[in-house]
Amino acid sequence: MKQHAILLADYLYDLRRFARHSAFGKDPEREARHLQARLMIAAHGIEKGLSFARFEPRRGLGKLRNALAHMRRHRALGLPEDDAAYLMARDAIVHYRRKHAEQGVDIADLFEGEEHLFEMEGEAASSIRTLERGSLTDAEREALRKGMLSRASIREFGDEPMTAEQVRAVVTDALSTPSVCNRQGFRAHYTLDRAVIDAALAHQNGNSGFGARVPGLLVVTCTQTIFRTPAERNQAFVDGGLFSMSLMLALTAHELGGCPLNWSASHRQDMALRGAVSIPEDEAIIMMIAFGPLPDVALAAGSRRYDLDTYLSELTRRERG
Ligand SMILES: Cc1cc2nc3c(=O)[nH]c(=O)nc-3n(C[C@H](O)[C@H](O)[C@H](O)COP(=O)(O)O)c2cc1C
Repeated sequence: MKQHAILLADYLYDLRRFARHSAFGKDPEREARHLQARLMIAAHGIEKGLSFARFEPRRGLGKLRNALAHMRRHRALGLPEDDAAYLMARDAIVHYRRKHAEQGVDIADLFEGEEHLFEMEGEAASSIRTLERGSLTDAEREALRKGMLSRASIREFGDEPMTAEQVRAVVTDALSTPSVCNRQGFRAHYTLDRAVIDAALAHQNGNSGFGARVPGLLVVTCTQTIFRTPAERNQAFVDGGLFSMSLMLALTAHELGGCPLNWSASHRQDMALRGAVSIPEDEAIIMMIAFGPLPDVALAAGSRRYDLDTYLSELTRRERG
């Protein structure tokens, strides 16, 4: 019974945090932090439409109108126009208009009063990336595979000093992580400071035997402000989990070792960590990653995997009735 009460208390804690910090039930017209996510979602919708090989004129009008409305609100609130979501929306709209012009479709009516968006047209970045098959050589693809397969959880580190620049390079690479509607809620909080590492690790169950020698620590989080519906209640953990994996691969690419550290934490632990180190209130904590220089020879647990068939099966339709 006691265990059930703990489960309920932990769920209620998560529920309260989601209700307080997510955009669910909030007015995006009033809260800038929620507006940015709406703008990104609308801009992403336009970009996505532009990335299909088949062009359908006036496709995605709802998204375009949403983007324009959110941009007006963005300006009215005096938010910076060099914000990534704002620029992405502007560039997508510029691209959308240009594509229509190329096809001889007049959509000027959509932009009445918004002509100022096209004054900087020359500066607009492309809303589309082109990825060519064959752009990675066989050797590069093999190196990618080898890099991925060589990642292991490293719990012993070399002792040369690390710099904030190294951490910035790792996190920059990990920004290639995909996220729902490109909302990019994931965040990484790092420290190379012994006292801060100890303060954080004191609340984590899983670093005994090596935590005291960890030279660097990342706390991976995901802001809840970008989620709007009850169905998105667990999305922070999906996007944050993907970001964590990218961080570990990026650490490998930068010749650093890393070990994920679980944050399967009770609400009391979660509150205690927040009391000990600077994690913004609106962010859900996903996990920590201990990291540091690779020693010349690192020992890692074998971590044997099961047979492939344990993980992989063909999805089939259920026969009804
Ligand atoms: C979300 C997550 C949490 C983890 N937490 C811990 C932890 O608290 N302590 C630890 O020593 N290892 C932790 N690990 C590392 C796993 O033990 C390790 O990934 C697993 O044994 C597979 O080994 P490999 O990472 O070397 O392939 C964690 C891994 C993940 C993915």
